[in-house]
Amino acid sequence: TVLVVDFGAQYAQLIARRVRECHVYSEIVPSTMPVEEMLAKNPKAIILSGGPSSVYAPEAPQTPTGLFETGVPTFGICYGFQAMAQALGGTVARTGLSEFGRTAFRADPEGMLFAGLPDEQRVWMSHGDSVAEAPAGFRVTGSTAGAPVAAMECAERGLFGVQFHPEVLHSEHGQAVLRKFLYEGAGCRPTWTMVNIVEEQVERVRAEVGTKRVICALSGGVDSAVAGALVQRAIGDQLTCVFVDHGLLRKGEAEQVEKDFVAVTGASLKVVDAQERFLTALAGVSDPEEKRKIIGREFIRVFEQAAREVVEEAGAAGEQVEFLVQGTLYPDVVESGGGTGTANIKSHHNVGGLPDDLQFSLVEPLRELFKDEVRRVGEELGLPPEIVWRQPFPGPGLGIRIIGEVTRERLDVLREADAIAREELSRAGLDRDIWQCPVVLLADVRSVGVQGDGRTYGHPVVLRPVTSEDAMTADWSRVPYDVLATISNRITNEVREINRVVLDVTSKPPGTIEWE
Ligand code: XMP
Repeated sequence: TVLVVDFGAQYAQLIARRVRECHVYSEIVPSTMPVEEMLAKNPKAIILSGGPSSVYAPEAPQTPTGLFETGVPTFGICYGFQAMAQALGGTVARTGLSEFGRTAFRADPEGMLFAGLPDEQRVWMSHGDSVAEAPAGFRVTGSTAGAPVAAMECAERGLFGVQFHPEVLHSEHGQAVLRKFLYEGAGCRPTWTMVNIVEEQVERVRAEVGTKRVICALSGGVDSAVAGALVQRAIGDQLTCVFVDHGLLRKGEAEQVEKDFVAVTGASLKVVDAQERFLTALAGVSDPEEKRKIIGREFIRVFEQAAREVVEEAGAAGEQVEFLVQGTLYPDVVESGGGTGTANIKSHHNVGGLPDDLQFSLVEPLRELFKDEVRRVGEELGLPPEIVWRQPFPGPGLGIRIIGEVTRERLDVLREADAIAREELSRAGLDRDIWQCPVVLLADVRSVGVQGDGRTYGHPVVLRPVTSEDAMTADWSRVPYDVLATISNRITNEVREINRVVLDVTSKPPGTIEWE
């Protein structure tokens, strides 16, 4: 394990991911964790992340006492670099020469972290204070115009630091520097591979579940599918998957769950066709929040009923269903303040909010994984790319992409238009550039058009392709005009009810990604 000590910036998760991209397992710990507790995790290395503060700020996070005396190889980044310099007797100064963004960096090829890399590199900087003097025994291994000490190391003690952010892609050789620290500085070995992850989780699930029965709710999304497939690999027939078909998925998605997932995993699947029930509950409702509430509520009821049936069927065979699979991911665990082994669980994950009184213990085989790792595990397990690479899709589904009342006819119209947009975006090779592309049906709006020889009075759809890192902010994607033209032509030709296609060119903020 490599511990990434989080000093409160947004960079800790990125660092942890980059470490794992070097095939070394990493875990994020808060900077308030006592050193003994860190040592109990048996770390091969420790990385101190950047942080928002100046080491001089009154509220500046403290470096855990005794951290540099543990003998564990340690790498300080940005704030962590300055904190290391200060703690070991160097000086950190407010030089007034702050550097932000891409910066020219001169590396000392004698430094372990830079050996074999170009002397001149572009790095990503974001700092106000600078290290003016390295601590005694340290060698200065890099500098920039604004930071005379921009990298330092004391290889004998296994201590290294850089002022820049090696974890961001703007730092040309950042990943190489990180790799050198891990492999050469700390002696880590590249054992964190997909095959090992799968094996390890399979073992863990087996140990946890024993011979008990397990239930898993599939949503059509990546996380629940991968979690279900992993658990299936671990315990086979002891697992029953439940898929509530609420009729709000996109074209082909229900079939992906019902056919492809089952074919690949061999899981036993209970499909509940609840389309009528959801339509009835949604009849006459236009308000977005109201729709969300109804969909969430109906989902819970239907799932509970299905779960009860699974329990009864199992009970009839003299068994109990004791576990529920959840697709909780590592960022959820970190964000809800839990480390490994804590019971702080976001209950609304994936399935739109399961009630607290469901009498199951949770199995969370993805708890240690980032999203990109989940996708690779999914590939390793043989799940189809349509599931593994599915773009984010809201729990309430197409229900919140019909502006106005949700009806079966409107769902069918939107499903067709959405399928065309997805197909053409994929064909143009844009799937990985676009974060997601909602297609929104303005069901209560009509406009005049001509199609063939006749006047029409149809509905518009909105294309909402966005780029984003995390859905918190987003920009509209600059999809090439000819791709937009093809989508527009096809939708207006192939979907009779639609006579206009418009493009949403609003960033978030002020717009949200979805229209409701
Ligand atoms: P907004 O529209 O808020 O969306 O910019 C941000 C991200 O969240 C997704 N989204 C939802 N996901 N239930 C979900 O599970 C919801 O009610 C919901 N509303 C929005 C949206 O697709 C985008 O990825």
